[in-house]
Amino acid sequence: MDAVEAIREEARARTRSDDASHDWAHIERVAATCLSLGREEGADMTVLLPAAYLHDLVNVPKNHPDRVSASRESANGAAEILRRHGYGEEKSARVMRAIEEHSFSRGLACTSIESRVLQDADRLDALGAVGILRTATCGALMRAAYYDIDDPFARRRALDDRRFTLDHFPVKLLRLAERFNTASGRREAERRTRFMRVFLAQLTAEIGAGGKADEGSWGLPVEAPTATGPR
Ligand SMILES: [Fe+2]
Repeated sequence: MDAVEAIREEARARTRSDDASHDWAHIERVAATCLSLGREEGADMTVLLPAAYLHDLVNVPKNHPDRVSASRESANGAAEILRRHGYGEEKSARVMRAIEEHSFSRGLACTSIESRVLQDADRLDALGAVGILRTATCGALMRAAYYDIDDPFARRRALDDRRFTLDHFPVKLLRLAERFNTASGRREAERRTRFMRVFLAQLTAEIGAGGKADEGSWGLPVEAPTATGPR
């Protein structure tokens, strides 16, 4: 077993699976995306893959005050694992830097191609079909409602994605594609964002939130699909 594979096994053993939005399947998706984006971008896989496997070693819930330090804690935890699997100081530091810099909530600048690819891969997992599932899971963990029954599309109130899961789309997800680092990552982000807009248009029709989907900041298709279920 080579070092990267051994690190993968150890990360897998240490990843808890009681949060479906941050379980081992999330790590494997991010690693697979890192493989494909990383090849296109010329990243060093012996840095990028361990960073992918260890990037959520310490997972702090979204609404927790220590959330911003999770990537630093993960990087610190990774250091000891990397050392045991034969990574020297210089290479360990590159892995740790990618882990720290990938974080959305830390807001650090990415200073290497491995940081940029890991950040894109992690963000891609917030979009598309998987992104919708993960958004619903995060909302459920925070005990948010799916949407505001009186004003689902926030026409007359401020957006609040801690109370309403649907609000997370305009607050973060629909704007995320603009913030990708790599060309290949951005292309895939745009594809996944288009799918989410179709999902939102369908949802609009199903919950009876207007004959036409909102054209405003939600950027939905003007013609919503016809409702398929009973009102
Ligand atoms: Fe992640």
